[in-house]
Amino acid sequence: MELEEFIKQLDALAEQAEAAFQSCQGAESFEAARVEFVGARSGQFKLIQKQLGQLDRDAKPAAGKKLNESKARIQAAMEAAQLRLDETGNQQTLGPMLDATLPGIRQHLGRVHPITQTIEHLKDIMGKLGFAVVEGPEVEDIWHNFVALNIPEDHPARDSLDNFYLGSTGNTSGAPDTERLLRSQTSTVQIRVMENTKPPVRIISLGRVYRPDEADATHFPMFHQMEGLWIDTDVTMAQLKSVLRMFATAYLGEDVSIRFRPSFFPFTEPSVECDFLWNGNWIEFGGAGMVDPNVLQSVGYDPELVNGFAFGLGVERLCMRRHCVEDIRDLYRNDLRFLHQF
Ligand code: DAH
Repeated sequence: MELEEFIKQLDALAEQAEAAFQSCQGAESFEAARVEFVGARSGQFKLIQKQLGQLDRDAKPAAGKKLNESKARIQAAMEAAQLRLDETGNQQTLGPMLDATLPGIRQHLGRVHPITQTIEHLKDIMGKLGFAVVEGPEVEDIWHNFVALNIPEDHPARDSLDNFYLGSTGNTSGAPDTERLLRSQTSTVQIRVMENTKPPVRIISLGRVYRPDEADATHFPMFHQMEGLWIDTDVTMAQLKSVLRMFATAYLGEDVSIRFRPSFFPFTEPSVECDFLWNGNWIEFGGAGMVDPNVLQSVGYDPELVNGFAFGLGVERLCMRRHCVEDIRDLYRNDLRFLHQF
């Protein structure tokens, strides 16, 4: 056979193969084309390849080159068909790989608890009035929770039914360990700060307090207070009222009525209670007063040289008034439908 004829056959074969692979529509026609053109035994390419032996010796290099070229052409056509069929096959079974027009899967983001939000807000307001933030422990001793605050041993506030005294911590008599308790008020932090700081002092402390109250719409056995303390040389009751009024209007709004009522606390003299008006009722939001000289003495301050005021406010009540929450228990039920509103 002549070289020319050999080359012609190969060109024709490559063309046919390309057309066949291009037009195959599925695995079956693809396989048929594969067997026909590149089948290992009797594929057309194989048959032409076998004729190489019949060519003249000096025609062989050119013929070999042409064989390789044609083989590559057919191979490429076959691979392209394979790829095309894979893609359409996937689309038929899985549908489109990605539909960018579908809405995304929404991630559930957590929120900061309303009380934590309130605490941050209160710190912010008091910070602008010059009060620094301090913290104190929730497990307290009798000295800081009562004695140093001028609350005598027979005072009802120390009753075991009104406090979470900690159970026996190793004393063999089995008697309750009355030396430590979950703090019932944040006034403890006043004592801790004054014990460690020389006047002047201007601090707030926000945190949890604990009392064995039955939970109802306005009570919960754990709640939060914001304690404030300002000690300096000539602090006045007028300043106390100004600070509380500024705080209340900043947090509750200019249009919210507040009032001060004479009251009594062992650690202040004189003492007041602060109320705000809500739904026609006066709601107490905290107590305050001028720090009792006995308290100043108990921390080593000289009441002849320094004086000051203190206050303790209920964080939940403030938060509830601002956000119109009617039941304190809603804050602690952990119902996401409620919490997600903040
Ligand atoms: N500790 C008081 C309470 O829990 C609140 C309070 C009243 C705090 C008067 C004070 C204060 O600092 O001066 O009911």
